[in-house]
Amino acid sequence: MTGSDFSVLPRHVAVIMDGNGRWAKKRGLARSEGHIEGAKTFRRIGEYAGNLGIKHITFYAFSTENWSRPENEVNAIMHLFGDYLKEALDRLDENLKKGIRLRFLGDRTGIAPELANLMDTVEKYTENMTKINLNIAVNYGSQQEITGAVQSIAEDVKAGLLQPGQITPELIASRLYTGDQPPVDLMIRPSGEQRISNFLLWQSAYAEFWYSDVLWPDFTERDFDEALRSYEKRNRRFGGV
Ligand code: IPE
Ligand code: IPE
Ligand code: MG
Repeated sequence: MTGSDFSVLPRHVAVIMDGNGRWAKKRGLARSEGHIEGAKTFRRIGEYAGNLGIKHITFYAFSTENWSRPENEVNAIMHLFGDYLKEALDRLDENLKKGIRLRFLGDRTGIAPELANLMDTVEKYTENMTKINLNIAVNYGSQQEITGAVQSIAEDVKAGLLQPGQITPELIASRLYTGDQPPVDLMIRPSGEQRISNFLLWQSAYAEFWYSDVLWPDFTERDFDEALRSYEKRNRRFGGV
């Protein structure tokens, strides 16, 4: 497929990469094996979205609630994330040629300093890229994100920089991690679950949802096409008629 095969493409796609654990369990493997496969799927689909001409895509990699998992699983996920960051730097020239801007959404203070430093470096090195914005949500929780935005606005009100009446939806949106990025048009969740799990609550106010039973490690370019086909046919009304 190419982007021109679609009459309309979402500006911003969000993907909840779910089902790694069940994929591994079905095969009698450790959950971490599912995360290894899931990380490969993430690379494939990210690349494919860029080739199609999607401008913004956000992958949910680790939620603020995922810290409650067994320590070895959390470590395995963080290790894979570190591998990805190092690879992104090793292949910097390639990524720059592809025009990929990498950004990370989430609370970086909760992440190991070595990883947080790599995140900063990757963001900085790719900040002038404009073909695709690829966001990875790590230690991300939407309610925490909105709380942080409200706190920063409250600080401005306290300092006399803002009047309460000047607080608008646009101002709140601008203080989120996605600040300058468009709202989510299409939300994809594989693995059979039909819930949002604290992901991009504000940004998805008018998103179209697409669910599939496929587990994330098995998710293919064809599944992504199917989601885009479905989106193409949706009649978005934004409250109008
Ligand atoms: C998604 O897969 C990856 C993360 C949440 C980090 P899961 O690990 O949630 O897989 P299931 O839902 O247990 O199958
Ligand atoms: C959502 O999946 C978080 C990520 C994919 C990173 P979960 O597996 O954590 O969500 P729940 O617990 O099923 O809602
Ligand atoms: Mg899950």
